[in-house]
Amino acid sequence: MHGVGLSLGGTDPLSNPYLAQLKALVHWAKPEVVSDHICFASVDGSYGHDLWPMPHCEESISHLASRIAQVQETIGRRLAVENVSSYVSFQSSTMTEWEFVGELVRRADCDLLLDVNNVYVSAHNHGFSAAEYLSAIPYERVVQIHLAGHTRENGYLLDNHGAMVSEAVLDLFRAVAMKCPEARVIVEWDEKVPPFEKLLEEVHRVEQSTQVESP
Ligand SMILES: [Fe+2]
Repeated sequence: MHGVGLSLGGTDPLSNPYLAQLKALVHWAKPEVVSDHICFASVDGSYGHDLWPMPHCEESISHLASRIAQVQETIGRRLAVENVSSYVSFQSSTMTEWEFVGELVRRADCDLLLDVNNVYVSAHNHGFSAAEYLSAIPYERVVQIHLAGHTRENGYLLDNHGAMVSEAVLDLFRAVAMKCPEARVIVEWDEKVPPFEKLLEEVHRVEQSTQVESP
């Protein structure tokens, strides 16, 4: 079960009606993973239906960790949180995104949904190394991996979930998959969705990308 509406990083109180419905749905569906994003999505009660990035600092970590604890306590299960792609950064950030994500999941004692395309997109947009980011991830906490396509606009990469997974992202994924072989992999494609056969082809392409070639 993958959510976009918890607004874990927001300053509005977590929505009790939302949490109650989430708890009921989780108990009914018994999903393998329950996840949402490391972001804020509402301000003063208005939801933006988007995943806005957090400043990477101690204050964000303690704020997010206490809200993740509240969610985990309410639903009676571990939550996996996902790294988002971003197009802005904050002057108040005091650490790298990978330091922030690693420290957050340790402090919140939650799981990580690692979106490899989001790492690649943000690395390009902010000029950091995706490989350095991925080398610092606590892989024992990764329960799910996301892959997706992106587009290029005015020199920036946009995570639009509307294209095939790029070869560069597949290269990163190969290394990631070896570090957490138990993690389930999802290819996200929810814009310009092609015929089902094309989606299946993409799943097979991703599956084959991790197969070791025989000599
Ligand atoms: Fe994702």
